[in-house]
Formats: sequence, C-alpha cells, structure tokens
Amino acid sequence: MAKKIIIKTAEQIEGIRKSCRLAADTLVYIGSFLNEGVSTEFLDKKIDEYIRDHGALPAPLHYQQFPKSCCISVNEVVCHGIPSGSKLKYGDIFNIDVTTILDGYYGDTSKMFSMGEISEEAKLLINVAFDSLEIGIVQSFPGNYFGNIGYEIGRFVHSKGFRVVRDYCGHGVGVKFHEEPQVDHIAEKNSGEIMKPGMIFTIEPMINVGTQRTRLDKHDGWTARTADNKLSAQFEHTILITNDGNEVLTKVESR
Ligand code: MF3
Ligand code: CO
Ligand code: CO
Repeated sequence: MAKKIIIKTAEQIEGIRKSCRLAADTLVYIGSFLNEGVSTEFLDKKIDEYIRDHGALPAPLHYQQFPKSCCISVNEVVCHGIPSGSKLKYGDIFNIDVTTILDGYYGDTSKMFSMGEISEEAKLLINVAFDSLEIGIVQSFPGNYFGNIGYEIGRFVHSKGFRVVRDYCGHGVGVKFHEEPQVDHIAEKNSGEIMKPGMIFTIEPMINVGTQRTRLDKHDGWTARTADNKLSAQFEHTILITNDGNEVLTKVESR
C-alpha cells in the first residue's frame, strides 16, 4: 500500500540524517578494535558505549527481545548474529550491523570486515556484496519502482555465480526500526510501489556463495545461517529519496 510508506518531513529528515551519521561513525570507530582473538561481546560493549556517549541508544537492545546492542554475523551467519564470548580468528569475515536511535530517529547501516588474510572466494564475495548495494542505490530515484532494486541486484549477483538471500529484506526506516515498504533484494522488473521524495529505507543485500536458503538457530531464535554453511556477506545503507535522486544518509564523508 503506497499510503503506508511514510513521506518524511524536513524536520524528520534532519533528525534521521543525524542518527544515520552517528551509526556510520560507529562503524568507523569500531574499526580500531578489530584484533585477532577479540570477542564479539567486547566489540558490542564498545559499540554500546560509543552510541550512548553520543546521546543515543542502540536500537537492537531488547528489540523483540534481542539481547545485545548490535548484530555481528561471522562467516556462514547471514544476519542477526548475537555478540558472545566467541573470538574472532584469522581468516574470518564478518558483518557488523549498527542501528542508532538519536532523538527518537533511527539510522541503520552495516559493513563487512575481515581478520588477516582471507580466501580469494571470500574477497570476491565481499566485493560482489558491496557492488550489489551500489547497484541498488543507483536504482533509488523518484518515479522508479522499488522492484527495480531487487531486479538489478539479482541480475548482477547471478552473473557472478552467487545467490541472493530472500528470507530477509531491506525496509523503510527512520521514525521506527522497521517500516513499510519491504525492500526485496530479488524482484520482478517494474514491480512494487513507486519511490517518492521524502521516503527513507534501507538496502541491505545478503549474498551467499552457495544456496540462498537460510536456517534459523533453534537455540537462540535469532542467528540466521546459510543452509549449506557456506559464506555469506552483506553491506547496508539508509537511503533518502530526494527530488532528483537520492542521498545515502549513512555514507561517511571525508571530513
Ligand atoms: N539492523 C538489522 C536490520 O538491518 C535488524 C536487526 S534486528 C535485531 O534490519 F533485533 F537483531 F537487532
Ligand atoms: Co536494516
Ligand atoms: Co541493520
């Protein structure tokens, strides 16, 4: 339903822009703590502190009973990895996903990191995941169909021999964590709602080396793994549709 997608006011956009900038800065900040043998729980603690020190709250904490302040998804974990005492080791690839609430406004972003030397396959996967987000951003302009984001991402990723996860999607964001619309990373050409200035949503394609299928961890109810335990990679940005294109609100400008 088009009418369920919130068109943000100038005031809301300014608030969401600030929250997005903090989320992006948090991902830069955590970069200096990524040493071999560090636990994901330690990284979660540093992220929680940084967000609070900047007058904001970490959105994941207690969201639908999620127990930590960010998601850290290592190797075959597709998304929603729960920070724990388990340690990052040489050769791991991992996604850190940060969502901030600043003055009531949400900013959502994630990126891949790696520990030491990683396989050629892992490097290629990370590059394809990065480029697939960029391809989605190119499709983000007023008058375009949301479906064209997933249509172009699918075409590109399949041409590289990888698969796109269907079980988890991008989403409207800003005044709530998850708003309309659902942003599919695989879709039919010219399907779905039409983008309008003032809409804000995430694009966050999860790309797998093997099967697109995922398996939810029975014990914690959150951790989503690839069904074949092969690698997965993801990048996420929060995007504003403007009068003449888009603004990537979680992009870190050199400043
Ligand atoms: N940040 C994730 C997203 O991109 C959602 C995490 S839900 C949580 O939509 F509960 F795990 F935090
Ligand atoms: Co998101
Ligand atoms: Co996120």
